[in-house]
Amino acid sequence: MTRYLITSALPYINGIKHLGNLIGSILPADVYTKFLRQQGHEALFICGTDEHGTPAEIAAQEANKPIEDYCQEMYGVQKDIYTRFGIDFDYFGRSSAPSNHQLTQDIYQHLEKNGFIEEKEIKQYYSFDDKRFLPDRYVEGTCPHCGFQKARGDQCDGCGTLLDPEDLLTPYSTISGSKNIELKATRHLFLDLSQLEDRLKDWVAQQPQWPEVVKGIAKKWLNEGLQPRCITRDLKWGISVPKEGYDEKVFYVWFDAPNGYISMTQDWAAAKGTPDSWKDWWFEGNDVQHTEFMAKDNVPFHAIFWPAVLFAADMNFKQVDYIKGFHWLTYEKGKFSTSQKRGIFTDVALELYPADYWRYYLLANCPETADSDFSFSLFANVVNKDLADILGNFANRTLSLFQKYYQGLVPIQLSQSQIDQTLTQSVRTQMSELTQSLSQLKFRPAAQHLRALWVLGNEYITVKEPWTVVKTDSESAMISLIHCLHLLRIFAVASYPFIPETAARILTLLNDSGVGNLSATTFADAVNFRYFPQGHMLQPPMRLFEKIDDEKVMELTAHYAGE
Ligand code: MF3
Ligand code: ZN
Repeated sequence: MTRYLITSALPYINGIKHLGNLIGSILPADVYTKFLRQQGHEALFICGTDEHGTPAEIAAQEANKPIEDYCQEMYGVQKDIYTRFGIDFDYFGRSSAPSNHQLTQDIYQHLEKNGFIEEKEIKQYYSFDDKRFLPDRYVEGTCPHCGFQKARGDQCDGCGTLLDPEDLLTPYSTISGSKNIELKATRHLFLDLSQLEDRLKDWVAQQPQWPEVVKGIAKKWLNEGLQPRCITRDLKWGISVPKEGYDEKVFYVWFDAPNGYISMTQDWAAAKGTPDSWKDWWFEGNDVQHTEFMAKDNVPFHAIFWPAVLFAADMNFKQVDYIKGFHWLTYEKGKFSTSQKRGIFTDVALELYPADYWRYYLLANCPETADSDFSFSLFANVVNKDLADILGNFANRTLSLFQKYYQGLVPIQLSQSQIDQTLTQSVRTQMSELTQSLSQLKFRPAAQHLRALWVLGNEYITVKEPWTVVKTDSESAMISLIHCLHLLRIFAVASYPFIPETAARILTLLNDSGVGNLSATTFADAVNFRYFPQGHMLQPPMRLFEKIDDEKVMELTAHYAGE
């Protein structure tokens, strides 16, 4: 039976992530994992912090902390936030763990042995004012391709092109702002990607199922021709290079970070006392389907660069099967910006509203086939309509009527002949659409089917009007209400991958330990449920969602507009 390995792009350690980061990888990966587990599949979900490179160094300097301490602390902070968002990692590791040092050096040695490493003397910017070389993010300038003025030494955020520092026009040091910088000769190691061009072209051509955005980026890269890429840097913090003359250098962060997927799986295996079990997930020859989640700026590294490393190292590691790439989430029509404090950050989000409000909104509006925009007015609209008016209202009406008419007890156990076949058929249809969308990793359509399922409940209770019918035909009113109860139970199971906390609350209200383990209840079992026993006691209703009014929307929009 196929087993599923799910990895999410490793968030940089440099501070708390914003909502765009969350929906770009970790959150959809979590939904997919929860869904697979519910359907009875074995799934392993691995993620962790990406701790090396200039982003980490710069952030630690700004925080005025030794980098080890900074990383340790931010690792804890990020991990805690994801827990509070209901993310179920099997393991949330660190790219700076000893396992990754060892693995990355091992991979490097295989690359060298296999003839993929060349040493070259290159020119790197040296800052006279800062008295140091300026790798990657320490140097910025104008992008020669698109004219973006804050392009970094390694990649342009304006157009996504990967750059070498000397490509930048009018470069300056981001440490001091100094333009008193000069290209100086220094020796570095390069991975010769050109030897792998044909192999990668073939491999990418065999992935017609990848999303368009992923294929597009991969092919663009391949068509530009693969150049040798520098895999070392003049930095102190990072994984040291096992080669003479490289004591002052470390590996490039993008050379070590993806290996973290493997090393974190090793750490997971060690932590559970079966140190070799990671191999079942990573070595060729196992029936494993590996899906990677990421935003589009990460695609070149996951579709070309890291696969090239794995091909060249030839260590029997399996290549990824499916790359789920996302477009950008924008914030009130602009960019989320960490430096300008623009947008909603994950810690603040949780102070404002419960995790499920964000989870549902972000998934239903995720940048799946194009960029999408976050605004508080849309957020309020989605929370008020989909969550409060549709799901919340249905739960509330149903449970209130049970209190009112039956003192919170299920009056009879339904029999087979009393089942509403039309309703059951509509439920089955939506559930199978939902299942299909999630199996295909189509999150927006999945959210639409989930919503359509909830709508069925509201329509049913509105049409059946048990509050009116009860006066003339109490049995018929009772039967419709029991159907509503069953719907609510189905909604909890189907909603669980999206809004796990709410799903659990619904179960509590239903007093239902039968699906107590939501994470292992299949959609099919939920639909086939036969039926609450007579006398089953329900909890009094409790509001599931609070609405957000216009005044609040205005206040939030103004308050979080950024500096
Ligand atoms: N830290 C990178 C980013 O946020 C992602 C690294 S994914 C990795 O863009 F697995 F390759 F490390
Ligand atoms: Zn550019």
